[in-house]
Amino acid sequence: MPITIKSGEELELMRHAGFVLASMHEELRKALKPGMSTLDIDKLALEITHSYDGCEPNFLGYEGFPGTVCVSVNEQVVHGIPRADRIIKEGDIVSIDGGVVYKGYHSDAARTWCVGEVSDEKRKLVEVTKQAFFEGMKFAKAGNHLYDISAAIQKYVESFGYGIARELTGHGIGTELHEEPTVPNYKPIGRGLILKKGMTLAVEPIVNMASPRVKWLDDWDVVTADGKPSAHYENTILITDGEPELFSILRD
Ligand code: MF3
Ligand code: CO
Repeated sequence: MPITIKSGEELELMRHAGFVLASMHEELRKALKPGMSTLDIDKLALEITHSYDGCEPNFLGYEGFPGTVCVSVNEQVVHGIPRADRIIKEGDIVSIDGGVVYKGYHSDAARTWCVGEVSDEKRKLVEVTKQAFFEGMKFAKAGNHLYDISAAIQKYVESFGYGIARELTGHGIGTELHEEPTVPNYKPIGRGLILKKGMTLAVEPIVNMASPRVKWLDDWDVVTADGKPSAHYENTILITDGEPELFSILRD
């Protein structure tokens, strides 16, 4: 499928899908406590999503994914399957990745939360991962090239000595959860396509504390090869002629 430019009406639906998802993340942040299982988080995520008219989780059943959200703790990088026996404890960093579909239009966003007292090095990883997204946003503007975003993320992340897994990327989003183009967190050769007003993207730095190497434990769960922590931060964004609009962040 080619890269699509969304109309004003389509953007209204995506804006709502983003708002619901941002609200869900906010509620999950407040609910997250040591002793909860990652499945408890998932159940709550489903309840919250369904509390909004016409909203469904778009991950559930996606290529057979069994959860409403992916919950990836510490050394889990992404796609953590929610489980009753994975219990959250103080000091963990918990990445929650979710998405909402509203009237056929998708949102996708991830947050990494610190549970209670977390080591300074983990907290810094979480902060840098979030800031890496915002470093990318400085270049997310019509007329710039796609890989300007990627390069900004890479430069910032690698300046801390952190690793970027090459196999995990962002993507276009709209009437599908995953659309063209692929949005890498590192700069490939070239500058990539020219960004245009009306393109919608999911930009998602995924940052490992040490080695960029990852391994798949099964069809889904991805962990760091060295067992060190990893963090994830993602939003669904709209390219404009000025600053990007961030659909999955609550506005004041
Ligand atoms: N948020 C993930 C991504 O950005 C999607 C997870 S795959 C799913 O690509 F199966 F869990 F939906
Ligand atoms: Co995504």
